Amino acid sequence: MDVKRARQLLARAEDALKYAYAPYSKFKVGCALLTGDGEIYTGCNIENASYGATNCAERTAIFKAVSEGHRNFVALAIAGNASHVLPCGICRQVIMEFCSDLEIITGRSDGDIKCFNIRELLPHAFTAQYIPGRDG
Ligand code: THU
Repeated sequence: MDVKRARQLLARAEDALKYAYAPYSKFKVGCALLTGDGEIYTGCNIENASYGATNCAERTAIFKAVSEGHRNFVALAIAGNASHVLPCGICRQVIMEFCSDLEIITGRSDGDIKCFNIRELLPHAFTAQYIPGRDG
């Protein structure tokens, strides 16, 4: 993806930050997921008093998109109140389930950005191919 489009996607991730519900960690995260047919789904982190029930911004966006019929994704931009936020291990696994070639963009829409491929972030992933008789 070209830098201009990456910055536009990051700007959408920054917009989603305002909905983050992070009263416990105070660490707000927003993201924007670009589907194969050009739609954008945003997400934020949603924490819980029972900490383990927290949902990360990335999974919020992915689950929103999948629940509306999308399974083909091109890029995911992540914004947070740290310089370059990257997806946690659980989110990497969820990303890999649907898209083994996802571009992940992190940084600020008006500043330094970094791009990674999910394969760099989750090498040697456990995927459906290991499960005999799988039915997607
Ligand atoms: N978090 C995300 O939403 N995405 C990430 O990529 C990293 C972590 C959230 C989970 C929790 O609400 C807070 O950030 C601190 O871990």
